[in-house]
Amino acid sequence: MTSEHDITLARTTDALAIAELSRDAIEYGLTWRWTVRRVMRCIHDADTNVVVMRRGGTGVPAFAIMQYGEQEAHVSLLAVHPGHRRQGLASALLTWLEATARVAGCTAIHLEVRITNPGAMAFYRRHGFGETGVSVGYYEGVEDAVRMVKPLSVSADAA
Ligand SMILES: CC(C)(COP(=O)(O)OP(=O)(O)OC[C@H]1O[C@@H](n2cnc3c(N)ncnc32)[C@H](O)[C@@H]1OP(=O)(O)O)[C@@H](O)C(=O)NCCC(=O)NCCS
Repeated sequence: MTSEHDITLARTTDALAIAELSRDAIEYGLTWRWTVRRVMRCIHDADTNVVVMRRGGTGVPAFAIMQYGEQEAHVSLLAVHPGHRRQGLASALLTWLEATARVAGCTAIHLEVRITNPGAMAFYRRHGFGETGVSVGYYEGVEDAVRMVKPLSVSADAA
């Protein structure tokens, strides 16, 4: 059972595990761009949340990175370790990010998914995201991205 209490902001000591999960689960076949150094920068960036799921101690079974703009938020990365999938971890992280984006006054969350990743598209559709288009060659010119967005209603609590 996953609860929101398992979700915390990432620490710098999580950066290696996050970068490696990104490389293996998201960036496979592409240049490894979300390196430890880049993840570290995000952890220290005031306009970015790097969140991790913790399950009893060490390890990072799941993480997400979201950037906040003036009006809209952007999910850059979200991944769950293969051994922990279909247990609601990504759903819990996305719910946390959505709640935070609403409180921040964001009106929508945007993201891109590799066009060869129907599982991720199904996951985001399940969470109310819709497809808005395709960015041809978005991934190093070798793979297209499907752009997806979820409009948000601003939380009454944030007023
Ligand atoms: C996509 C991903 C983040 C989903 O994580 P998860 O923790 O397994 O997702 P959840 O358990 O919260 O899934 C919730 C629902 O989403 C849908 N879903 C999740 N993964 C799915 C898949 N591979 N195929 C179809 N539907 C899927 C299902 O409706 C699922 O509910 P169910 O298990 O009751 O059927 C995970 O498979 C992953 O890390 N993939 C590799 C990285 C990636 O693609 N990241 C997203 C793009 S950056």
